[in-house]
Amino acid sequence: MTHVLVLNGPNLGRLGSREPDIYGSESYADLVSFCQSVASELGLTVDVRQTDDEAELVHWLHEAADVSCPVILNPAAFTHYSYAVRDACAMLTAPLIEVHLSNPAAREEFRHTSVISGVAVGTIAGFGLRSYELALRSLSA
Ligand code: DQA
Repeated sequence: MTHVLVLNGPNLGRLGSREPDIYGSESYADLVSFCQSVASELGLTVDVRQTDDEAELVHWLHEAADVSCPVILNPAAFTHYSYAVRDACAMLTAPLIEVHLSNPAAREEFRHTSVISGVAVGTIAGFGLRSYELALRSLSA
């Protein structure tokens, strides 16, 4: 059974109360259970994590690289400037899918740059929790 790490960056633990007009009313706990239920439907297992800490996220990416685990990553604000997260992503040994709840390309200019996209297989953005579902489906295909 394929195991997938679903990693979430800063402020995503605040989903539900964080700018619901942009990120929706579902909580982070809802995101976790949604990913778990989609994964089980697809015959995948998932470990869904969130951190506000760049170093912790980098360590989780190292862990994924060491065991060749596919990663679905919502780097949140790190998307736009973290070369440390990008470099850790570049070391991955299994597919990386970048996801976003919102569509950064339709928002402020600073969100139009992703330093992660260049080392991801693909990016899925703008579909809310469905972005994660589409990423899980792409890994199970
Ligand atoms: C986000 C988009 C980012 O620009 C933002 O910094 C986030 C969330 C998204 O899921 O839409 O924190 O990654």
